[in-house]
Amino acid sequence: MPVSREEISGILNQYPKEQRFSLAIMQDMQRKYNYIPREGMEALSDYLGCPLSSLYSMATFYKALSLKPKGRHIIKLCDGTACHIRGASPLRDGINRILGIDADETTGDGLFSLELVNCLGSCALAPVMVVDETYYGKMTLEKLPGILEEYRKEASGS
Ligand code: FES
Repeated sequence: MPVSREEISGILNQYPKEQRFSLAIMQDMQRKYNYIPREGMEALSDYLGCPLSSLYSMATFYKALSLKPKGRHIIKLCDGTACHIRGASPLRDGINRILGIDADETTGDGLFSLELVNCLGSCALAPVMVVDETYYGKMTLEKLPGILEEYRKEASGS
């Protein structure tokens, strides 16, 4: 998604110029763009009059914030103990083969990002993969292409 100055100003102007709102503003940018664009960080630094470096350390500290563009769909592959034992690694390889991405990477078309996560609390369904909010339990390599294809189809409107 292209980043416009107006949109960023729109986010900033909802908050008083006080440093204590920096996290809330970054969260708003994250929600809008799925990451915090460099332009957004610079504008925030100007707006609050605080150093860019301290904003960057805050953004890297919070796992929910990302400074790199993320895909429209976030694939979370569980690599907790139960899922690891039941085949998370072959699934990771399968995603790599099909989409050409590994952990913390995004496909060139911006459709998918892959994240490895710890136990998602559904060990009975291991191995577990979550796409956005949808859980896929007892995942197999065979199911993988079909599931990913659904998201592709939906994106292309077919
Ligand atoms: S280890 Fe994957 S859900 Fe618990």
